[in-house]
Amino acid sequence: MVKKIAVGCDHGGFIYKGVIANHLQSKGIEVIDCGCDSLDSVDYPVYADKVCKKITEGEAQLGILICGTGIGMSIAANKHKGIRAAACENTFSARMTRAHNDANILCLGARVIGTGLALDMIDLFIDTPFMGERHTARVNMLNELDKK
Ligand code: RB5
Repeated sequence: MVKKIAVGCDHGGFIYKGVIANHLQSKGIEVIDCGCDSLDSVDYPVYADKVCKKITEGEAQLGILICGTGIGMSIAANKHKGIRAAACENTFSARMTRAHNDANILCLGARVIGTGLALDMIDLFIDTPFMGERHTARVNMLNELDKK
């Protein structure tokens, strides 16, 4: 059961961060807010790094990163060892990236999807367990790629 989620954004995702944090808290999930804290222009790699650290240091189980497209955040997050960040734009991908990739961060594009879809995707991301079995070997292969 997911108890703590780290959430971060840049200026492009700032409004969504508040909506998402309220939604997670209404589900009884503790939110670690990693910023940013306003609509002022900031650099997304800074906030991706903060959320990734919360996960790799064991403080949060999962993370959510929001920027304009979700893409910059996913590129930045995937540079961290042990992070599997997925930029998703639909519910199927949000569910499957937990089931098959054991993704630990969901990246969302606030300029791409609406908040209703974002919250549905988040619910699926949180509630879907990793399937294991044949996918375990593949995730282990991803972990090996971390060493390159
Ligand atoms: C900021 O303008 C924008 O580039 C950022 O939010 C994100 O979309 C990057 O991938």
